Amino acid sequence: MKKKRLVVLSGAGMSAESGISTFRDMGGLWEKYSIEEVATPEAFQNNPELVLEFYNQRRSQLESVEPNEGHKIIARLQQNFDVQIITQNVDNLHERAGSKNILHLHGELTKVRSTKHPNLIYDIGTKPIKIGDNCDKGAQLRPHIVWFGESVPAIDQAVPIVNSADIFVVIGTSLNVYPAAGLIMYAKHEIPKFLIDPNNVEVPYGLDFNVIKKGAGEGALELEKKINQYI
Ligand code: OAD
Repeated sequence: MKKKRLVVLSGAGMSAESGISTFRDMGGLWEKYSIEEVATPEAFQNNPELVLEFYNQRRSQLESVEPNEGHKIIARLQQNFDVQIITQNVDNLHERAGSKNILHLHGELTKVRSTKHPNLIYDIGTKPIKIGDNCDKGAQLRPHIVWFGESVPAIDQAVPIVNSADIFVVIGTSLNVYPAAGLIMYAKHEIPKFLIDPNNVEVPYGLDFNVIKKGAGEGALELEKKINQYI
């Protein structure tokens, strides 16, 4: 029988239990760095060394972190569901836990691209990039990350994915950043929807979610039990 399609929208909280800071919680990344300094095209123009260094650190951090229980349970759900992940995270922890279908809305730390030829994208793993590291056509490389003020090209792919969900799950996102947060309104009205987060999340559009008020690991375990009935 055809597996039901389970779509997961994940955010920074998904990776919190792996030791990667979220953005907006206490002690989150945007308390330590300002968005304007490291995550906008203007920042890269004004101080490219600082911006490259910020992402070099994030990339190098991937070497010392591991997927957590939450990532592993989501990967395990593939046995019984057709799982499609849409993540705002730029880490590679869903992949490393064994999930197969992952759309990265905000880019990927392990990739860099040309500043002049956006289709020239390279896998660099966890290596740093410096000023003077160029693409094959001689232009400076930059992180393959969506910065504030830039468009989110993957959103066009994400909308039909959410719309095709038989079950929709939101994990570890404050739903503060658009267009990602707006994706939730494309889930069909009648399908079961779950939201896993240890804190209160204000859900836009007044949509009705089954809230599992737990961290990603415990929350995913509870989700797994609750969706058994839909297999
Ligand atoms: P936020 O930092 O805004 O939200 C993180 C969410 O995770 C919050 O709702 C927390 O309550 C929740 N959380 C904390 N610990 C958790 C845990 N152990 N398990 C599950 N959830 C937990 O992060 P995002 O919503 O992902 O964009 O932020 C969206 C975008 O803003 C990011 O992709 C990034 C950022 O600026 C770019 O870099 C373009």
